[in-house]
Amino acid sequence: MTAPVILDTPRLRLRQWRDDDLAPFARMNADPRVMEHFPAPLERAVSDAVATRLRDEIAERGWGFWAVEAKDQAGEGKGRFIGFTGLRIPAVPLPIGPCVEIGWRLAHEHWGRGYASEAARAALDYGFEVLGLAEIVSFTALRNVRSQAVMQRIGMAHRGEVFEHPGVAPGHPLRSHCLYRLERDDWARRAT
Ligand SMILES: CC(C)(COP(=O)(O)OP(=O)(O)OC[C@H]1O[C@@H](n2cnc3c(N)ncnc32)[C@H](O)[C@@H]1OP(=O)(O)O)[C@@H](O)C(=O)NCCC(=O)NCCS
Repeated sequence: MTAPVILDTPRLRLRQWRDDDLAPFARMNADPRVMEHFPAPLERAVSDAVATRLRDEIAERGWGFWAVEAKDQAGEGKGRFIGFTGLRIPAVPLPIGPCVEIGWRLAHEHWGRGYASEAARAALDYGFEVLGLAEIVSFTALRNVRSQAVMQRIGMAHRGEVFEHPGVAPGHPLRSHCLYRLERDDWARRAT
């Protein structure tokens, strides 16, 4: 067990999950707009199980897919939960081999404010500076252009690599994923 890492950005805090995140997380996961590029929206029990798994991973390693709160939307001294962003070792082995991925999911009302890119940049900095990773990858369904726009905004590159995600049924239109990569040297060049 390691102390959970907290990352602060000008507008956001990335932190360990709390019980009071479960309800807004479930609302987000039940929203068809948020889940458009996933096989289906999530039932409450499944959403809670996902949050528990993400919380356990952060408890274990200190880092993971952190809960994200927006400081400017704070009420009663607490930031408001808006979704998650972070670094994670994929739960299922992927055809691209062992990797650390960066990922994000925000409630629909928080799209279009630059929050995902801001949180993701903090996660990249942590991954390269503190964890010393050589590379961070990201992937999404081919038609998830909003997520790919975040990848591009934070400096990741798509070099034509596409793979079939083993977690999605063969033949399903969301199975083909594009792979984006960012290597440490490219990140370091951008960071200076
Ligand atoms: C993927 C996802 C996180 C992207 O969210 P997003 O809000 O589009 O991305 P960002 O937070 O980087 O915001 C960028 C937008 O905010 C705008 N913006 C507004 N204020 C801004 C500010 N202060 N700083 C930066 N950008 C700002 C940008 O111009 C950009 O607008 P555009 O989309 O019209 O070009 C969101 O669509 C989502 O949660 N989707 C569902 C889950 C999902 O698909 N996850 C990925 C699965 S692999």
